[in-house]
Amino acid sequence: MQETISNDVSVLAAERVSKSFGNVPVLFSVSFDICAGEVHALIGENGAGKSTLMKILSGFLETTSGAIRLDGQEISLPPDGQAEALGIVLIHQELNLAEQMTVAENIYLGRELTQHGFINSSEMARRASAMFAEFGLDISPSARISDLSIAQKQMVEIVKAISRNARVLIMDEPTAVLTEAETELFFKQVRKLKAGGTAIVFVSHKLHEVKEIADRVTILRDGQWITTKSVEEFTLDSMAQMMVGRELSDFYPPMNEADVDAEIVLETRNLNTKNLKDISFRLRKGEVLGFAGLIGSGRTELFEAICSLEERQGGAVQVSGKQADFRSPAEARDAGIVYLTKDRKAKGLLMEQGMRPNMTLFALPKFTRRFMLDRAAEQTALERGIRRFDIRARNPNCRTRELSGGNQQKLLLAKIMEAEPRIVIIDEPTRGIDVGTKQQIYHFIAALAAEGMSVVVISSEMPEIIGICHRVLVMRSGRITGELTGDAINENEIVRFAAGLKEERAHG
Ligand SMILES: Nc1ncnc2c1ncn2[C@@H]1O[C@H](COP(=O)(O)OP(=O)(O)O)[C@@H](O)[C@H]1O
Ligand SMILES: [Mg+2]
Repeated sequence: MQETISNDVSVLAAERVSKSFGNVPVLFSVSFDICAGEVHALIGENGAGKSTLMKILSGFLETTSGAIRLDGQEISLPPDGQAEALGIVLIHQELNLAEQMTVAENIYLGRELTQHGFINSSEMARRASAMFAEFGLDISPSARISDLSIAQKQMVEIVKAISRNARVLIMDEPTAVLTEAETELFFKQVRKLKAGGTAIVFVSHKLHEVKEIADRVTILRDGQWITTKSVEEFTLDSMAQMMVGRELSDFYPPMNEADVDAEIVLETRNLNTKNLKDISFRLRKGEVLGFAGLIGSGRTELFEAICSLEERQGGAVQVSGKQADFRSPAEARDAGIVYLTKDRKAKGLLMEQGMRPNMTLFALPKFTRRFMLDRAAEQTALERGIRRFDIRARNPNCRTRELSGGNQQKLLLAKIMEAEPRIVIIDEPTRGIDVGTKQQIYHFIAALAAEGMSVVVISSEMPEIIGICHRVLVMRSGRITGELTGDAINENEIVRFAAGLKEERAHG
């Protein structure tokens, strides 16, 4: 009976599947299959059709034509997540947790543990704790979801899915919000599941992760199947090129030399907050300054403190040599500092509205005349933003939520530029964004610096920190532990400072 657990049996398959939304076709006769005990990576740019294909394979969407096979038998999957009963579990790209419930309640949602007919909360909490411990995670089962960070929410989603004992586990960009360390822990679990015979689909933009975890790779481009091959047959470059269908030369922009004598536009001295200790650094005009470190090392908190989104407890901040104690983000903006949150979904954009209201929200005075919003000026601003940042929407009147992640990020950039800032702080500039758009955003950042703006890039993606920054500060546990310039900006050095293996910082 050995054959039944052979790696070559496909558990779930899509056969020549096509899909249209209304009369817009988005998948064209795509075939894709998953075998027991393999990790099959699905890659492609934003809008390629990955999520649509995965929703079809898990019963959240119907095909327009083509077949789905489970264990070789053609079937129609039950709708709305009921395919879980068949062992097919999808972790959606957009997190799907009930914000007001606890972690344990979310994990057991719909299959609560009971004892004598009552919900057994303590047993659910105990089991959830055990699962988190296995992941090396410090998340309390009784914490409310709304109090967790995005990375923690993602980990809860993953634990929730894994706890459902899926035969087929489909994960749509699960690592988009995880740090490299968290991703490693996550991969450890993936390897365990794989060894236990689970069929796993891993949708991702992060090609080095695909290289690390996948057995087979399928590439989608513009709704078309391009190829399926074993991972050894790809290099990172060949994957990227097949995804975008063109040569990706100049992935990172040429950077001008850093001018070490340029004016200091932002400086902190011994800045303290609840979790930050004695942060001192300087940002110069025209500089791209990177902040590296693990999630929770304090990078976001530092810039929230500077922009008054987080309480300061001593220390000084100066903007162009003047004391800067902002009482609101609006005051920071008026002083020329804008902060682009990493949480685009929750904080940065009006998702239910069109693109135009988003453009002017931030620089409202510029767009009001006698207390009336100047629609024509707003429209001009939108057109300017669309041109400058190459924002692509299938329908110009669509709601912002319907834009791809990359285009949302471009819209955010366009929006803040309307405030004509001198200092731009971007938190995770390319999270969840496809390679083609990433490359564009890197070029935009370089262009802003070349125009004399100063840019702070907070990022957990090491290649981008290395690729676009003149100088890098590494944080660990609320302190700056290292400063890197020139050739010293490399992965090895950053990791050593971020992990606490090395610490040296000339102050100032
Ligand atoms: N519910 C929907 N209605 C209309 N168009 C959609 C819907 N969902 C996705 N699309 C479109 O289908 C295409 C593929 O999207 P998607 O599957 O999300 O791509 P990916 O996950 O590869 O980024 C995109 O052009 C997207 O705008
Ligand atoms: Mg997607």
